[in-house]
Amino acid sequence: MSLHELLVDELKDLYSAESQLVKALPKMAKASVSADLKQAFSAHLEETKGHVERLKKAFEAINEKPKAVLCKGMQGLLEEGQEHIEEDAGDVFGDLALIGAAERVEHYEVAAYTTSIALAKSLGYTEASSLLNETLQEETKTAKLLFALSKPMIKEAKDTGEKEEE
Ligand SMILES: [Fe+2]
Repeated sequence: MSLHELLVDELKDLYSAESQLVKALPKMAKASVSADLKQAFSAHLEETKGHVERLKKAFEAINEKPKAVLCKGMQGLLEEGQEHIEEDAGDVFGDLALIGAAERVEHYEVAAYTTSIALAKSLGYTEASSLLNETLQEETKTAKLLFALSKPMIKEAKDTGEKEEE
């Protein structure tokens, strides 16, 4: 094993993770009630397609062929998200559950990109690390946006809950 091989393994995992997310985001957008949340998922779908393309370029930048190896972490996160879609979707509580699932996904990706960037930098792969860093910035921004969207929803959910108790 070398650091280069370790980086290639990380990229294969990410390539699978991002490809899985491209398939899941339209379902998450469809299941959201809030127009802002729908819009956030749709916008992140377009970004995520770009993340797949950037990963292809990152593989090429280190003279490797783009290849995916099933990312079980993302698979598990998306399975849990799918359960929320099936069981909770349709109101503000469902939207909050979707945000919880999406936040897990974003933070998981942030962890994976942070690791890959550190490896790429240590190997002197400037182009690959700057490509990965562009995506990292978008993941971080998305996580923050989702958190901001959740705040008024939590208030709304709290008010709804209190009304039901009256
Ligand atoms: Fe991504």
